[in-house]
Amino acid sequence: MLTLAAEVKTASRHYPVQVGWECLDEVGRLVREHGFQGRVVMVSDQAVASLYERAVRGSLEAVGFPVLHYEVPSGEASKTLESAGRIYDFLVEHRIERSDLVVALGGGMIGDLAGFVAVTFLRGLSWAVLPTSLLAMTDASIGGKTGVNHPRAKNLIGAFHQPVLVLADVSTLSTLPERERTSGWAEVVKHGLTLDTALLDLLETHVEALRALDPKITMKTVALSAAAKAAVVSQDERESGLRRVLNYGHTIGHALEAATGYGRFLHGEAVAVGMMGAVRLSHRLGLVNELLVARQESLLAAFGLPTHCSGVDREVVGMAMELDKKSREGEVRWVLLTAAGKTTIRPVPSAEVAAVLEELVRP
Ligand SMILES: NC(=O)c1ccc[n+]([C@@H]2O[C@H](COP(=O)([O-])OP(=O)(O)OC[C@H]3O[C@@H](n4cnc5c(N)ncnc54)[C@H](O)[C@@H]3O)[C@@H](O)[C@H]2O)c1
Repeated sequence: MLTLAAEVKTASRHYPVQVGWECLDEVGRLVREHGFQGRVVMVSDQAVASLYERAVRGSLEAVGFPVLHYEVPSGEASKTLESAGRIYDFLVEHRIERSDLVVALGGGMIGDLAGFVAVTFLRGLSWAVLPTSLLAMTDASIGGKTGVNHPRAKNLIGAFHQPVLVLADVSTLSTLPERERTSGWAEVVKHGLTLDTALLDLLETHVEALRALDPKITMKTVALSAAAKAAVVSQDERESGLRRVLNYGHTIGHALEAATGYGRFLHGEAVAVGMMGAVRLSHRLGLVNELLVARQESLLAAFGLPTHCSGVDREVVGMAMELDKKSREGEVRWVLLTAAGKTTIRPVPSAEVAAVLEELVRP
């Protein structure tokens, strides 16, 4: 059974975010209901394709869609212009037309890459997303950000392109590697803390059931998290205001990832430490009390996420933040909490940032 978790309503498109359990067989019907008549080009990575390509293909073929499949190696190294180029070659070879549909089957890497190919090929093909990682279901698949990495920086090349539908089969999380799943909870906790206290309560009450992937609780949580993100992007498709709230924990998080060459932390792990930085800054500036700092820390820890880190050079983290600052017109605007579910965005004195880094990042 499918639940309509949210409807994303942007100026460019309205589309549903559907959440279910063992529901990949619904994709053919949903795509048909959208009125598509052409062919489907499925893009996935090797690990995901070996598990789920057959089910998705079967569902699409059952309602009469011819299906082509392009597979890339798993991992962030596939999110490049070179990979996109090879996919364009495949699309040209198969004479893909404007009326055909791209289906991204996989985690956030595949969503970004396939979405980027969709927006650029023939000046824009329609695309649908079947997210299979926790990060992709609750965050990356919603909002239409697509792109690839440049050798010198992540996500530098891209465009906004909203999909026609998002279908999250939560049961696919059972095959997601444990560390990836744990990392994915970070963005869900972020949505609870910054946007939705009902989600925060749900997370706090059901940590164990969620870590064990209880179907009912997990679907409800994925749906609420997706809905929280959908509400934000519906109000601010292109990150000119409200959408910046989603960067809670990301200022320090990105710097930690960059300072360690993107090899040590998964994104959610770095964001978890970054969120601890942001809440501690919120406390130092008198915006929240210690209870909220402790509440956030114990929730992250309960999900198995890090709340500080060691063996990282604090100076290199500081330098990564400086670099980031330069690319943002000289000022870091921090997303801070003022209460559970409430945020403010403002600059923070550098002495406070240095003090918090000293608490969080140990050599
Ligand atoms: N577009 C956005 O708004 C947005 C937001 C956040 C992150 N992102 C991007 O998302 C990417 C990270 O996404 P991710 O964490 O999902 O990484 P990912 O797509 O690389 O997936 C992580 C790993 O899990 C595997 N995997 C995925 N689903 C699986 C499943 N159900 N079973 C078994 N294995 C599975 C993949 O093969 C991969 O090895 C980054 O490129 C990031 O920049 C985009």
